This record gives sequence, structure tokens and C-alpha cells, in this order.
Amino acid sequence: MSKKKRQLILSTFVQLYGTHANAWRRPETKVGGNPDFNQWADTVKLLERGKFDIAFFADFVGNSGADIDNIGLHPRGGGFEPLTLTAALAQVTRHIGLVATVNTNFNEPYNIARRFASLDHLTGGRIGWNIVSSLSEGAASSFGVANPLDHAGRYERAAEFINVAKQLWDTWDDDAFDHPNKETGRYLDANSVHPIHHHGKHFSVDTLLDIARPIQGYPVFFQAGNSEVGREFAAEHAELIYAAAQTIEEAQAYYKDVKGRLAKYGREPDDLRVIPGLFYFIGSSRQEAEEKYQSYRESYDQNISARRQLFGVDLSQYPLDGPLPENLPEPVNGIGRWRQAVALARRENLSIRELILRFSIVQGHRILIGTAADIAGQIEDWFLNGAADGFNLKPTFLPDTLEEFVDKVVPELQKRGIFRTEYEGKTLRENLGFKRPSNQHLQSKAAKAA
Ligand SMILES: Cc1cc2nc3c(=O)[nH]c(=O)nc-3n(C[C@H](O)[C@H](O)[C@H](O)COP(=O)(O)O)c2cc1C
Repeated sequence: MSKKKRQLILSTFVQLYGTHANAWRRPETKVGGNPDFNQWADTVKLLERGKFDIAFFADFVGNSGADIDNIGLHPRGGGFEPLTLTAALAQVTRHIGLVATVNTNFNEPYNIARRFASLDHLTGGRIGWNIVSSLSEGAASSFGVANPLDHAGRYERAAEFINVAKQLWDTWDDDAFDHPNKETGRYLDANSVHPIHHHGKHFSVDTLLDIARPIQGYPVFFQAGNSEVGREFAAEHAELIYAAAQTIEEAQAYYKDVKGRLAKYGREPDDLRVIPGLFYFIGSSRQEAEEKYQSYRESYDQNISARRQLFGVDLSQYPLDGPLPENLPEPVNGIGRWRQAVALARRENLSIRELILRFSIVQGHRILIGTAADIAGQIEDWFLNGAADGFNLKPTFLPDTLEEFVDKVVPELQKRGIFRTEYEGKTLRENLGFKRPSNQHLQSKAAKAA
């Protein structure tokens, strides 16, 4: 049998109005009032029409009161908590994977394992977990965290969190509830139950999860680390990584680095897929696309003097058109991304203004500018040349920039044979071509039976 051609993964970072800071101010955009589920549902249905693998919901918990003067400058209050949102989206979609962000600093494994198992059943096996462990000041103060763990400590807690969650999902055999016997009055066989007894550095858990094992075994694990410890964490635990790179060389280096770390965890290179972020400006001609990009850039330039900072590092005391000074303090969150920005500034001799522009408008992600065919060709280039397994789109204005991609770029990708024309499987795991993880008790059970 011929091996199926490798397929591109398409994900979208779903935001209410789009990534452009002023997307909400367009005359046609409905704003204000209570959060409206239909706005989210329409975007995700559009993605499903485009046969996307993933609708991704980021989450940055906790609002610090520090920036109260500027709080009115950004749209707020329109977002839902991701796990709750995905439960509702499950009812209006059938195929697309729904990836919810959950932070391991402010939760207990039991609650989260239970919610993801519930969601996996509610979605028919389409749930993914973007595991994050970032800790902003606002989040710390929202949860009364007086002595936050350091960066490495947070990744260590996240690793133990996942380990406990997996044990919780494995507390029941896959078929534990498949043989209730009304005659004998025995609902299930005690041999199909595996209580967990975990006593680690961060968690102590003696229990059984009160829901059946997820349809997918475990949710699909996503992660977005970039630091040394973040990459190692991804190599051990993640199945997809949200990456950020602007040049093919940078993307190839990252791709090679993380895939190269897998063998020591007994994993194959294809067990971890890399999906960098993607901004795109589509025109009916290259010139029209370039004009769209320039107007996008100019609208950001006006804001830079007011907010002269990058990843939380204050740059306001340095001249905007001068170079990035040496020996700046490193941020608490996002060290990896910060170092990427510093390396870019040095490599291309960028002024502070130019560096902030590059990162603020596209947050260090790839930008494609051109016709739909140009964009599909450039996506294919990274996909075929060891730089990406797919992309995470960052549409600037919703719904129009996403509609453009679905209607114009997706058919070009399909023509090239690198993107599906129909969903192949029922679950997110199946559509991504990942194996379903077996229950960790299966082997010991088989050995006992033998
Ligand atoms: C595309 C993308 C999406 C991310 N989404 C979230 C998110 O929703 N919530 C969050 O707390 N952090 C999010 N992050 C930040 C990462 O979790 C991580 O903290 C960051 O990439 C820095 O990695 P490092 O700590 O290994 O340096 C995201 C990062 C990227 C690149």
C-alpha cells in the first residue's frame, strides 16, 4: 500500500475581531455588550468550511490593575474562558479540532483532567490542550501567588501536572464501562480500575477520575515554549508546538533542534509537529498585497512612541531610532522569544522602533505578502524544506482576511496536493495522523493475563 502523502497542518489563532489592534473599530464590526457566542461560532464554522485541523484559543489569565490608565484603549470583555467556549463550540461543529489553553500554575490536575476528559467526550474526540506555564504579575495577584515559582520551576510543575493527568485518564480501561451486566448487578469489572497514588513535589493525589477514559486516550498536547527548558519540555510532552520564526533559516534551526531532542524520550521525529505563526496579506496582485501590508504597518507605527516596550522590558529611556542597548535585563516571561528579538536586532542592525514594529505587528512570526498562489507556494516551501509541519494563522481582520484565505489560498494548497479536501478521520488525533496513546496499565494487565 502506498504511504499517504504528508499533509500540511492548518491551525488558526482565533481572536474575536482579528489580530489588528484596531480591527474592532471598523464600521461593520459588531462591538460592545455582553460576550456573544455567535461571533466565535461563525469564525470556527468558517475554519471548518476550509477543512482546517485546528481552532486555537489562547488564554492569558489575570488582569493586573497596573495599566488602568490605558485599559479603555483595547477591546475587552468579549472573550470566554476557553474550556467553556470549546464545550459550546462542540455543539455547532463536527470535524475541527478545538484547542484550549490551560495554565498549570493555577489549577489542580484532577480538575483539569476531568474537564478535558469531559470535553473529549463532548466533542467526539476533538479536544487539544495548549499547556502553558507563564506567570504574569496580573495572574499572580489574581490567584494570591505571593512567591511565584521561577521559570524552570514552573516547567517542572507543568511536567508533574501532565504526568498526574495521564495517570488520572488511565484510571479506567478503555472498555471499563462497556459491559454493564443487568442480570448480575455488576456494572463493571474491578480489574478495569486503576486508582492513582501519586506523591510528588507539587501534587499529592490518591483517587480515581470520575469519567471514562477520553476518546482520544489523552487530549492532543500543544505547547509553545522557546527557551532551552521549554524546548526540552516540548520534546518530552508535546505533540504540536506553536513556534515563531521570520526566516526559513531560523525556522529550520528550531525545527531541527526540537526534533533532535525526541530520541532520548523514545519518540520519533514525526511525533512532534512544529507549526509556526503566520501573518499574511493577500492581494489580487503583488502590489495590492504590498499596499495592504504597508497600511497595516503604518497604523502600528503611530502607537510605538506611547508603548515603548518589548516582552515587558521597558525601553522608554532609550532613543527610539537608536540601537538596542547592550546588557538589558531579561524578562521573567518569554526569555526565549526575547532572545530571538535581540538576535534579530543585532543581525539586521535594527533600531528600537524597527524592532518593536517587527515584533508588535507580527510578534516575531512569519509574514507573507502576495497573491493567493504566491502565499500557497511560500507555505509549501517551508513545509517541504524542514522548516514547518504546518502553520498557525493570525488573521488580521475577521471575518474577511480569514474568508480570503479559506476561499483563495486553501484551494491552491489542495491543488498542490499538500492539504486535504475532506476530513479523513473522526478525531483530532486521526486527522493529524497521530497514534492513539494506549492506557499505561494495558501492558501490565496483558503480562498478568499471560
Ligand atoms: C503562538 C503562541 C501562542 C501562545 N499562547 C499562549 C497562551 O495562550 N497563554 C499563555 O500564557 N502563553 C502563551 N504563549 C506563551 C508560551 O506559553 C511561552 O510562555 C512563551 O512562548 C515563552 O516560552 P519560554 O517560557 O519557553 O521562553 C504562546 C506563545 C506562542 C508562540
